[in-house]
Amino acid sequence: MLNSLAEQLNEGVKSGNPHVYDMLSTLGKEIYFPKEGILSQSAEASGHAKKYNATIGIATEGGIPMHLDVIQSKLSAFQPKDLYPYAPPAGKPELRTAWLAKMREENPSLREKSLSSPIVTNALTHGLSIVADLFVNEGDAVIYPDKNWENYELTFGIRRHAEIVNYPLFTEEMTFNSQGLREALLAQKDKGKAIVILNFPNNPTGYTPGLKEGNEIVAAVKEAAEAGINVVVVTDDAYFGLFFEDSLKESLFGKLADLHPRVLAVKVDGATKEEFVWGFRVGFITYASDSKEVIHALEQKTLGIIRATISSGAHPSQTFVLEALKSPEFHAQKEEKFQIMKGRANKVKTLLDSGKYTDVWEYYPFNSGYFMCLKLKDVNAEELRTHILHQYGVGTIALGDHDLRVAFSCIEEEYLEELFDLVYQGIQDLKNK
Ligand SMILES: Cc1ncc(COP(=O)(O)O)c(C=O)c1O
Repeated sequence: MLNSLAEQLNEGVKSGNPHVYDMLSTLGKEIYFPKEGILSQSAEASGHAKKYNATIGIATEGGIPMHLDVIQSKLSAFQPKDLYPYAPPAGKPELRTAWLAKMREENPSLREKSLSSPIVTNALTHGLSIVADLFVNEGDAVIYPDKNWENYELTFGIRRHAEIVNYPLFTEEMTFNSQGLREALLAQKDKGKAIVILNFPNNPTGYTPGLKEGNEIVAAVKEAAEAGINVVVVTDDAYFGLFFEDSLKESLFGKLADLHPRVLAVKVDGATKEEFVWGFRVGFITYASDSKEVIHALEQKTLGIIRATISSGAHPSQTFVLEALKSPEFHAQKEEKFQIMKGRANKVKTLLDSGKYTDVWEYYPFNSGYFMCLKLKDVNAEELRTHILHQYGVGTIALGDHDLRVAFSCIEEEYLEELFDLVYQGIQDLKNK
């Protein structure tokens, strides 16, 4: 038996867009956010309990959250109220508003679109797992390219028993393989449903498509929808903003937002990589829909998943990120770091294009993000990885038989040449063994 609140939400989704109802997983249909319970009673009390508010599960003293001086003395720039109490399950309202404003400012294609307010997640991984919980049933196709962030496998494959469908990221001409995406999508006609994950700048290659390729991706999703396939399309915008060349500089979420009634666009993004706060764990999940009922229900269901898993995200990190977003120095400081990252990416490209390594590797196109990938010609990636690690103290990531991922994001520009020289030397060692 469905809970009556879940039923109400489902009716709302159905009346707003029946295709979105069909996209929900069993858990997605069952989940709801309790209206009557501790959270709502204490929210009600915070407005009316002027004399004694004995509702909330925190401790207070002198009218503010109880706290220890060993912690507060180190965090004295912040008020106890912005650190110690639980943040609301959806996140600090001011942070959500600020993030939405930032999103619309950085993505002009989103300005006119009807969106939910971003809900705070425990960073992007959590946003992706919420998508998995709400939309993926056992056997559903989750489509993403062969070069991908490995954690999708756990989030969608292992945890939700999705059928993972990969397509080659690049064509022979080394452009984005939108035809591969199109075919993978259209192959789901019998299932009538697919979940697509788009991740640009891409981990591990550092690739972001250009305008034409971006339009092809959108067209492929639209064609699938027109063929009767319900498509949940997720943009994993982890590395958003780090666009160093002439690629798309907006999230495809903008173009996907109101593409077709059978397309539900979901944006997963966050401060993790964009604001260089990896350990803070602040991310967001945002839904696009013309229907207020759909938006309301998806927000409530998302809160239900959050309440059932982590209850609410960490409060101090939300405060830190909010303060940063509000600071007048935020843009200038980000720009400074952007230039450093761009300098490293350009340096890597200059080195690779100098011709001194072309006998041993090619490289996959890169123009954005933290990484680039070498395509090794005649040594095994894992063998090379362990050899250069132990022989030269150089750490890289081996992917498959011949790809080696190099995070230029964490090597200062002046050392990049030595880094690639050592990888090159490692290859010579293995070849001459
Ligand atoms: C493509 C991609 N998505 C998501 C994540 C996870 O981000 P978070 O640390 O915010 O959970 C990463 C982190 O490596 C990533 O590369």
